[in-house]
Amino acid sequence: MKFPQFSMLPFLMVVVMLSLSGTTLSHPHWDFLHCLSLRLANYSTISKVIYVQNNPSYSSVLNASIHNTRFSTPATPKPFAIITPLKTSHVRSTLYCSKKHGFQLRIRSGGHDVEGLSYVSEVPFVILDLLNFRAIKVDTKNEVAWVQSGATLGELYYAIAAKTNTLAFPAGMCHTVGAGGHFSGGGYGTLFRKYGLAADNIIDARMIDANGRILDRKSMGEDVFWAIRGGGGNTFGIVLAWKIKLVPVPAVVTVFTVNKNLEQNATKIFHRWQYIAHKLPDDLFMNVWITKVNSSQVGMKTVQATFRGMLLGGVDELITLIQDKFPELGLAEENCNEMSWIESVLYFGGLPLQSVDILLDKNALPTLSLKAKSDYVKEPIPESGIEGLMSMFLEEEADNAVAMIPAFGGKMDDIPENELPYPHRAGNLFEATYIVQWTKEENAESGKYISWSRRLYSYMTPYVSKSPREAYVNYRDLDLGINNNDYTSYEQASIWGFKYFKNNFKRLVQVKTKVDPMNFFRNEQSIPPLLSPWKKKGN
Ligand code: FDA
Repeated sequence: MKFPQFSMLPFLMVVVMLSLSGTTLSHPHWDFLHCLSLRLANYSTISKVIYVQNNPSYSSVLNASIHNTRFSTPATPKPFAIITPLKTSHVRSTLYCSKKHGFQLRIRSGGHDVEGLSYVSEVPFVILDLLNFRAIKVDTKNEVAWVQSGATLGELYYAIAAKTNTLAFPAGMCHTVGAGGHFSGGGYGTLFRKYGLAADNIIDARMIDANGRILDRKSMGEDVFWAIRGGGGNTFGIVLAWKIKLVPVPAVVTVFTVNKNLEQNATKIFHRWQYIAHKLPDDLFMNVWITKVNSSQVGMKTVQATFRGMLLGGVDELITLIQDKFPELGLAEENCNEMSWIESVLYFGGLPLQSVDILLDKNALPTLSLKAKSDYVKEPIPESGIEGLMSMFLEEEADNAVAMIPAFGGKMDDIPENELPYPHRAGNLFEATYIVQWTKEENAESGKYISWSRRLYSYMTPYVSKSPREAYVNYRDLDLGINNNDYTSYEQASIWGFKYFKNNFKRLVQVKTKVDPMNFFRNEQSIPPLLSPWKKKGN
């Protein structure tokens, strides 16, 4: 009897592991694992990096970063394997073997993709989960940081605040969102009127392209560097880490919340807000949330507009400003709170203010099922239009729905539309994201919630941007159109592409054609190359 060759040992170990776990393997699966085990070449690494179905930890690893339980049902397609690389060579190996053996690769950082694109696919796939790529290096002297893609925004904010209370980063408000997907689509939060998007503040990146080359800003070139800062995830390569520019904040900021329901003139106040908010100084962030709440009349419901914001300054300055520019809001001192910037992160994230450690907890908030859609508004909506919007929130399906409406203006007006792929800059009064949520137990009835969100979207048509009707790629909406599994023409992808990127879509297609002409990195709404391999073959 011959002993197996040395190079076969790791593969045999995978086989033993798989047979112990009861997994049956068909050929492509077998070949993929063989390929990967040869490249990882170490038993203890393999067991920490590869999770195949029936591995006892497979479900917990898969579910750990699912932030939309709409895509966590028995019928949801599951990856054949989840790879959780510990180092760059593992990422390259996963890329190499997926390519070689025909598996689609879904890259997952924070797992917040609202359409589940980082962990669901209709074709055989593996997930590259960057949960071990979470290192953050903050350099306060040079006011920069390197953040790996798998880090959450909460971890990033925590790491900055651990070193200084006068630097920050202008990214999103939900602490469990991942840097990888968020930066890839733009990313905005309470500092965006002052400093722009997260993507506007990225100065370098480390990426692996479809050929396995490790690139930085210089070696990838300015076109690719432009495209990865807002052109959407899972399209140009695997971004391992980002170098970001930190921004100054005062040691004390002031946050405020004022609630107005329909009985308290919410409609009129929101109507007035549209004329004012985008012109306020860029030190002020202001957001309106529309939700259904209990009315003062027992057993009745009403709709509430929550005006929540933050000034990079003290409470007196805030009250003087709002009394002067927006007295209708009736802002009083008791609505305001002075705090540090990091405490404001907790405030806007809906977290208790007691300890910033909660920013490290990925399970601090419940996970629900949801559907999101977004719009940009350039002209004030007439009062009658707002009344109709409000009344839709009284419908049964809207018990757990929200319209999130941040005022634009400020720095966003100063950045040209083509500076980055994210084009929604000057001329927007606000963005509106409509999110309808329900519990996992109600998934069987998801259709009624989704159709409510479609009706709301259709209702908003006369009041929002047109030709194209713009949308925010970070709130992906597959209703706007999807790619085919194989060849997708420029014309077909233009339907959703121009909504997310306006004219920047053309440049994104050119970059994609150059950097990934075989369209290895793809999903339902990735940018297609101009001539895909299928088309070339005439299929
Ligand atoms: P996820 O890991 O699911 O990735 C999203 C997409 O990017 C996927 O297509 C994925 O394949 C790809 N991708 C991920 N990592 C990659 C990498 N390293 N390289 C290449 N591609 C990669 N937005 C906002 O601007 N401001 C906000 O305040 C919020 N708040 C918010 C709250 C909640 C509860 C949700 C569900 C979403 C938001 N968002 C948001 C939207 C959020 O910015 C968007 O969903 C991001 O794409 C999420 O990034 P993750 O890394 O978490 O997701």
